[in-house]
Amino acid sequence: MLDIDNVTKTFSGFTAVSGVSLTVEKQQIAAVIGPNGAGKSTFFNMITGHLTPDSGAIRLNGRDITGIAPHKICGAGMGRSFQRTNIFPKLTVFDNVQAAYLAHRGKGGNFWSPAERFYRDETEALLRSIGLWEQRESIGGVMSYGAQKQLELGLALASDPALLLLDEPTAGMSATETHEAIRLLERIAGERELTLLFTEHDMEVVFSIAQKIAVLHQGRKIAEGTPAEVRADPEVRRIYLGHH
Ligand SMILES: Nc1ncnc2c1ncn2[C@@H]1O[C@H](COP(=O)(O)OP(=O)(O)O)[C@@H](O)[C@H]1O
Ligand SMILES: [Mg+2]
Repeated sequence: MLDIDNVTKTFSGFTAVSGVSLTVEKQQIAAVIGPNGAGKSTFFNMITGHLTPDSGAIRLNGRDITGIAPHKICGAGMGRSFQRTNIFPKLTVFDNVQAAYLAHRGKGGNFWSPAERFYRDETEALLRSIGLWEQRESIGGVMSYGAQKQLELGLALASDPALLLLDEPTAGMSATETHEAIRLLERIAGERELTLLFTEHDMEVVFSIAQKIAVLHQGRKIAEGTPAEVRADPEVRRIYLGHH
């Protein structure tokens, strides 16, 4: 489904990502891990179109999407969430998700109808499925960090993606929140038959959910495989686990 071929990104002489390749199969759960500064977000932003690689190519379902604008890639079935949350902080949880539906599906020609009439049922169903229905009247920006990340997942899902990309979905979460977020992701991916690619700095978080793991270190991919293969890799143990 996703074929990333030898991408490189340099920022004023500093190579943040160096010749990294990765493929993700349909309905696979894949993770890119590595310590802070390894190049995960840079790699991620090239896939979503927020950064253009200096060289290399990215294909989605066989179609070359290298350097294409993010909203066009989103239209091709890719949803995403950011390392820092990207919700509408002054809107309620309900209005956040409803606005996301409106943004992605539009009003279907009913231009003069008030926005609040649209996608109410879809919004309710989505909020129930991600466990935020009870908090539907809460203002997004004042909720706990974990709940805001949950809401951001909801916004990404409102675009009905086949492939979902998440940049450190558990960053800043407590151990309990992290555990719940991973279980939620696993369930949503199964229910919606999603393909999932996410980045993570905490190795333990990915072992329970990812079927395939790539390890970045200083912009290079130093290992790739199943959780068991990556865990046993001597270079990963030396470079990555040595940090803990
Ligand atoms: N826009 C940028 N300009 C200059 N350097 C950057 C930029 N974005 C990232 N970097 C650098 O690239 C390296 C990788 O960053 P990043 O991709 O954010 O890593 P990670 O997400 O793994 O923590 C870091 O050294 C970072 O400082
Ligand atoms: Mg990052």
